[in-house]
Amino acid sequence: MMAPVPIDRVREVRTPVYCYDTSLLKETLETVRFHISDRPSWKVHYAVKANFNPGILKLIASAGLGADCVSGGEVRAALDAGFAPSDIVYAGVGKSDEEILLGLDEGISRFNVESVAELKVIDTLARSRGKVAPVSLRVNPDIGAHTHANITTGLAENKFGIYHGILPDVVRIALSLKGIEFKGLHFHIGSQILDMADFSTLCNRIADILGRLDTEGLPVSDINVGGGLGIDYYNPDDITMASFGAYFSTFKRHLRSDLPVHFELGRSIVGPCGSLVCKVLYVKEGLTRKFAVVDAGMTELIRPALYGAYHHIDNLTSMMPEEKYDVVGPICESSDVFGKARMLRCCRRGDYLAIRSAGAYGESMASSYNCRPLPGSILY
Ligand code: LLP
Repeated sequence: MMAPVPIDRVREVRTPVYCYDTSLLKETLETVRFHISDRPSWKVHYAVKANFNPGILKLIASAGLGADCVSGGEVRAALDAGFAPSDIVYAGVGKSDEEILLGLDEGISRFNVESVAELKVIDTLARSRGKVAPVSLRVNPDIGAHTHANITTGLAENKFGIYHGILPDVVRIALSLKGIEFKGLHFHIGSQILDMADFSTLCNRIADILGRLDTEGLPVSDINVGGGLGIDYYNPDDITMASFGAYFSTFKRHLRSDLPVHFELGRSIVGPCGSLVCKVLYVKEGLTRKFAVVDAGMTELIRPALYGAYHHIDNLTSMMPEEKYDVVGPICESSDVFGKARMLRCCRRGDYLAIRSAGAYGESMASSYNCRPLPGSILY
């Protein structure tokens, strides 16, 4: 159940503003915990990139999840929010020396390494600090996920990971380096995945790869399967929870049960609990359509402009019959559109609209293009 946006609190602050339903977030974290409670060695690391609002991060840290980070800034944000260094994993194709040293000095639990070149740099930096870096190798499994082309990551043509064909050689290199402790394998095939068959394909590929490494006498101590579980953007009131049951049971059915498994979920944890609330500035009669011009733009929520993503929109303050609108922002870009031909309760200047399911990759991708201030937030 989604609690309604606290409109009285919204009226007191500058819009656009992100509003997060913390009871839904807590319920989601509880659901995640429930589904893995029969696998004590499984761990979910929340993908910080989805939303690094400090209040949200603190809540997730206190629920006992780990943190999956992709930059030194995210490692810092996770530490500040209370995640233990031993619960932090760090991935990314382009880690700078400064970022690697931060991870080493803070004693994070894992570097997910994406190339031999990176492995060698981490080895050198770790030895310079008299340390041994715990490393997993990110494998490019060459699997296409059924999602938007910009958010698939596991194809051979993508920049991510080490091609699975050369993996045994790279593991041998990792084992030969004194500053590296080789631990496991890391995968991530994409985001907003709704077809569980994509995850079972991943499991089968992982089984093949583990089999190959086993035959070559190269054991692995754990597996990180990444994130990617999608949410229902079309029915934000009826379906507030991602299909965690189906998701985790896919891995229970298809993965070897003797290895610890790590997950890196982002969108499915925070997506449904957030709405971007904005105000109608003008209702403009175009030649063939009506525009509701709002005070939020692609600067606060870039997903529609960047991926053609759908977000449901509600008028929170009108009781009048519905009319059809294009909901557009103030940014000087034609793609600054939140929705075309949307049925909304009749809009007037000053009405508040909620752009739904915006808890993931909304606030975290905000920019100050056009010299706009970053949006604030309300946790309710
Ligand atoms: N692990 C890795 C290595 C990742 O690259 C990602 C997301 C995740 C975990 C978390 O995936 P999730 O569970 O959230 O699907 N900005 C895009 C999504 C980009 C996802 C990038 N990587 C969007 O708004 O749809």
